[in-house]
Amino acid sequence: MELNKFSRTLTQEVTNPAAKAMLYGIGLTTEDMQKAQIGIASTGYEGNTCNMHLNGLSVHVKKGVQENGMVGLIFHTIGVSDGMTNGNNGMSYSLPSRDLIADSIEDVVGAQWYDGVIAVVGCDKNMPGAMMALARLNRPGMLVYGGTIKTGEYKGKKLDIVSAFEALGQKFAGTITDEDYEGVIKNAIPGAGACGGMYTANTMASSMEAMGLTLPNSSTYPATHEGKKAECLAIGAAMKNLLEKNICTRDIMTRKAFENAMTVVMAMGGSTNAVLHYLAIARAAGIEFTLTDIQDISDRVPLISDLKPSGKYYMEDMLAIGGVQAVMKYLLQEGLLHGDCMTVTGKTIAENLAEIPSLDFDNQKIIYPLSNPLKASGHLQILYGNLATEGAVAKITGKEGLKFEGTAKVCECEEEVIEFLQKGEIKPGMVIVIRNEGPKGGPGMPEMLKPTSAIMGAGLGNSVAMITDGRFSGGTHGFVVGHVSPEAQSGGNIGLVKDGDLITIDAENNILQVHVSDDELAERRKLWKPIESPFKQGVLRKYIKNVSSASLGCVTDL
Ligand code: FES
Repeated sequence: MELNKFSRTLTQEVTNPAAKAMLYGIGLTTEDMQKAQIGIASTGYEGNTCNMHLNGLSVHVKKGVQENGMVGLIFHTIGVSDGMTNGNNGMSYSLPSRDLIADSIEDVVGAQWYDGVIAVVGCDKNMPGAMMALARLNRPGMLVYGGTIKTGEYKGKKLDIVSAFEALGQKFAGTITDEDYEGVIKNAIPGAGACGGMYTANTMASSMEAMGLTLPNSSTYPATHEGKKAECLAIGAAMKNLLEKNICTRDIMTRKAFENAMTVVMAMGGSTNAVLHYLAIARAAGIEFTLTDIQDISDRVPLISDLKPSGKYYMEDMLAIGGVQAVMKYLLQEGLLHGDCMTVTGKTIAENLAEIPSLDFDNQKIIYPLSNPLKASGHLQILYGNLATEGAVAKITGKEGLKFEGTAKVCECEEEVIEFLQKGEIKPGMVIVIRNEGPKGGPGMPEMLKPTSAIMGAGLGNSVAMITDGRFSGGTHGFVVGHVSPEAQSGGNIGLVKDGDLITIDAENNILQVHVSDDELAERRKLWKPIESPFKQGVLRKYIKNVSSASLGCVTDL
């Protein structure tokens, strides 16, 4: 069965009589039977601010599709909010939701034989899931990002989702009153949109724009901005053009396009999750793209954006300076982007950027010039050593320093960090080792935003480091190393560390090492056994059985 490289036209007549009968049944006309059918995959969901408005945006997308002579058919897939699942057991379901989104979009579009597909996406896992589906389906396709959220405010201070977690750390440390704690929680999230810093959602949105899979500045228009509605309405004309020229997603998702995506992630200070996701998306697109390629990009692309979580500004502030398109133009002018990559406008990156105004370095402080970067190389570093023979991902902006050496404080799970913090057992100079939180062990490789925010809130952000076989939220900052592979549950040495072991994290020489001899590690291994998973059925059972190492992107279809 040939799934890929479809050759579809705008006048693809429906011939299957049963399908035709059913399409008449949903209200299509005889004229509609001659039109291209576009599946519109909405990750809309009333239960969180990242996804609450996406069904509404999908209606605008459908309108634009219909106005351009095609049939738009909205269907739905899931959306799990990382903000809401962070710090509780629900987090185990978050990363698996990426693959469920990919599978469900592939399934509907493949089954219904849609001529094109548009995915309307918001929260962290929506984007990579939809990109994986589009890559697998390889037909005319594009994405619309739901847009970033506005900042909240309390007592004159700007707030976002991370402020809520950091307030918890302040509560533990006794540095915030109950009234102010409630004030932060009630005012951090003012309405629709994805978390407002360069966290995972905005990281994936910016980089998929750099990959050419969205209309220009899709990542920059805030969720409630008029530009977002206009973008949705303009999608129809763009889709028609893709169909007319038969530009399919793999024509866009080339090796160079992956390099462009990761270049923007590095320049803008994006989330560690981008590493995991682009490994998985590349596999879906049939592109060879590894941790080594990501390190190469990190070596040549400086960090130039002063955006949250480690910087000052929010994504909403980018609109005033020309958005991600202006950053891309600068990177292109400086030879860091490939300009010849095709995009969903039917034009190349360079053609799209030709009319975009250049960044004005005299009048904005968000993006730094390459001659004076925040960090001379990328903030995402791939580390190796006896603690990570398959690799680990460090997020080091340089503000925390580039090297940390300290004694291990072992936490068998995320919850123990909070417990030890409350008991005052976490001290400056420690490397907090959180294990059994990997793809199989977590399961689902949970994000450690609650511990990192609590550490920050407790004032220990500059004096402790953290390593884990789990993940970190895009909202995390501090000296953190995640994705340690192999994970403890698969027999990785992280499972053998003991309290007091000396650990070196060296982001200059890309080393993650525990100073314990091979003989001693072998002795400890004799006593080690994997944890008994409580998940004996259902989606997490399937996930545990199928998921690959984080160093391969946690894909489930290897
Ligand atoms: Fe959805 Fe942050 S929790 S974008």
